[in-house]
Amino acid sequence: MNRSNFIKSSAGLAGFLTIGKSFAASDFLANRKDNETVEKDVPMITLNNGVKIPQLGFGTWTLTDKPDQYVREAIEVGFRLIDTAQGYQNEAGVFKGIKDSGIDRKDIFITSKVGPDVMRNRSVKQSLDISLEKLGGEYIDLMLIHWPVVDHIQETWSIMEEYVNKGLLKSIGLSNFNPHHIDDLMKYAKIKPVLNQIEIHPTFSNMENTGITLYKDIAVECWSPLASGNDLDNSVLQSLAKKYNKSAAQIILRWNMQRGLISVTRSTNVAHMKENINIFDFELSPIDMSIINGVNINQRTSAKNDPDNFPW
Ligand SMILES: NC(=O)c1ccc[n+]([C@@H]2O[C@H](COP(=O)([O-])OP(=O)(O)OC[C@H]3O[C@@H](n4cnc5c(N)ncnc54)[C@H](OP(=O)(O)O)[C@@H]3O)[C@@H](O)[C@H]2O)c1
Repeated sequence: MNRSNFIKSSAGLAGFLTIGKSFAASDFLANRKDNETVEKDVPMITLNNGVKIPQLGFGTWTLTDKPDQYVREAIEVGFRLIDTAQGYQNEAGVFKGIKDSGIDRKDIFITSKVGPDVMRNRSVKQSLDISLEKLGGEYIDLMLIHWPVVDHIQETWSIMEEYVNKGLLKSIGLSNFNPHHIDDLMKYAKIKPVLNQIEIHPTFSNMENTGITLYKDIAVECWSPLASGNDLDNSVLQSLAKKYNKSAAQIILRWNMQRGLISVTRSTNVAHMKENINIFDFELSPIDMSIINGVNINQRTSAKNDPDNFPW
C-alpha cells in the first residue's frame, strides 16, 4: 500500500490515531509481496516518488568510533536501511561497513543529511560532492535537509533538485521540519519531499506533526525511537514488554511499524540489533497501541530539538 492509499484508507488514519479499527500489521504483511521484503521480513514503504524504503533502519549518530564495524554487524543481522549525516562525521566509515558486509550496494538504502552549517556557509554543492564521494561515489538513495535553517532552505532545496536531475540523489527529503516549514517549501519546490525525519518516541509522540506530514503524502521517519534509550525503563512499556514476552525496545519499534511509520534505531550491541529487527512475529492489540499513545508527555530528548525555538 503506498502512502497515498494508506492515507485514503480508513484503516490508515484510524490506525495511526488508534481510534476505531486499528491499522492492522497483518494487512500490511498480507498485502506485501515476497519481493518487497528484505531479510527478517522488514516491510518496504513506497515513497511518493515510487521509490521503496525499508520501514526499519539502523541509525549511526554518535558512531564515530568503529562505525564500519557496527554498520557491518547491523547489515549481517538484516538491516538494509542505514542512516547517516554529514554532521555525524562517519559517512566514509559507514560506507566501509557496507562494503565489508559483502551485500550489493543496490540492496542497501543509504540516507544522509545536509548539515545546517553548510547551508549557512553556502557550501551545499561542495558538501554534496564530498558526501557522494564518501558514500561510494555513485549515488545516495536519500538526502535530507537536516534542520530547517529558514533563510537557506530554498537555495539548498534547489541544489538538491539539481542533483536529483543528474541522478546523483535518488530521493530528497526533510528532517526536523514542522508543517509550516513544509508549506513554505511547497510554494517553490519542483520536487516534492518524500519524507520528514522527526523526533518520535513514546514520551514525545509528536502526533500533530506526524499526522499533518502523512496527510501531505510525505512519509514520516522516527528518529531516536527509543528516546536514545531513555524510554526503555518506562513502567507502562515495561509492563507491555512482560505481557508480550518482548523487550521494551521491541514494543516501541512495533508500535511505530503498526502505525506505518519508518524508524531508525541505533545500537552498538549485536544482541540489541537482533532484538530490534525481530519485531515482525507479533502484533500489538488496538488497546495496547492506545495505551502506548498515552505515554506521551511532550518531552523531547533535548530542548535544543525544537525546530521553532532553536537555530542550530
Ligand atoms: N535527524 C535528526 O536530527 C536526528 C537526531 C537524532 C537521531 N537521528 C537518527 O536516529 C537514530 C536513532 O536515534 P538514537 O541514536 O538516539 O537511538 P535510539 O535508537 O533512540 O536509542 C539508542 C540507545 O538505545 C540503546 N538500545 C538500542 N537498542 C536497545 C535494546 N534492544 N535494548 C536496550 N537498549 C537498546 C542503545 O544502547 P546499546 O548501544 O547498548 O544498544 C543506545 O544507547 C540516530 O542514530 C540517527 O541516525 C536523527
